Amino acid sequence: MTLDKKKILIVGGATGIGRATALVCAQRGAEVIIGDLNVVEGNATARACNGFFIELDVTNESDVIDMCAGIGRKYIELDGLVQAAGILKGAYVSIEDFSVDMFRKVLEVNTVGSFLCAKYAMPLLKRSLRPVIVLVSSGAAHGVSSSYAYGTSKGGVSALGITMEGKLAAEGIRVNVVCPGGINTNMKLSVIAEDARRTGQDPEAAVNNASLTLGDPIGVAKILAFLLSDEADYVRGSIATR
Ligand SMILES: NC(=O)c1ccc[n+]([C@@H]2O[C@H](COP(=O)([O-])OP(=O)(O)OC[C@H]3O[C@@H](n4cnc5c(N)ncnc54)[C@H](O)[C@@H]3O)[C@@H](O)[C@H]2O)c1
Repeated sequence: MTLDKKKILIVGGATGIGRATALVCAQRGAEVIIGDLNVVEGNATARACNGFFIELDVTNESDVIDMCAGIGRKYIELDGLVQAAGILKGAYVSIEDFSVDMFRKVLEVNTVGSFLCAKYAMPLLKRSLRPVIVLVSSGAAHGVSSSYAYGTSKGGVSALGITMEGKLAAEGIRVNVVCPGGINTNMKLSVIAEDARRTGQDPEAAVNNASLTLGDPIGVAKILAFLLSDEADYVRGSIATR
């Protein structure tokens, strides 16, 4: 499987699943662009991929517009968009104590951010012969989540992906949604540490234990890289991973 010369934008590519995806895509020949809030890690990933980094906050519409304009100045088309930027806030907070601001913030990043990236990348994607959009949702969209806001936001990401899939197929744009399980990243480990503190356990020991059993981001990255390739042409809808 090759991604030779495909131009792939990975939003949320500074760390975790996005970073691993950037590395696998670059190994398979893609030209990778990283968009992220985290400037230090974003630049480091871009360097490791021989790609370039664009700083953005996905909740800021003008940042997303500027990112796509910047890509348009360098490339004619974009072959793939991965939207992996996300936050998990409010784990284990009861619904009575859940602040409306926190609920809105999580939806803004995870759900509205996915919409903005797809919306403004669309003109570049439409210039590709076989464009692909992959939204990173979560198993939390379909089952138990530690956070009311996170579960709700990922339900929205999955529904956005499925809606786009139906509407954009006629234009030759494939849209897939990936729902990872528990993966060893900063986001997951911070929730595990939080749960340990809440239940009176040692957070460091809990994180060390979890690291032994959580999935490797590279495992999810390989699935994302496959979905971005032409070989995945017949894949439809949503895919759950470990
Ligand atoms: N780790 C898991 O177990 C797991 C499971 C299911 C789904 N996911 C999803 O995978 C995706 C990647 O998460 P991860 O686990 O790799 O965690 P992570 O924290 O390592 O990665 C999230 C990335 O998103 C970026 N980001 C956050 N807010 C942003 C914003 N406003 N604008 C731009 N970038 C922003 C971060 O800087 C970071 O690089 C997320 O959407 C997450 O919800 C993770």
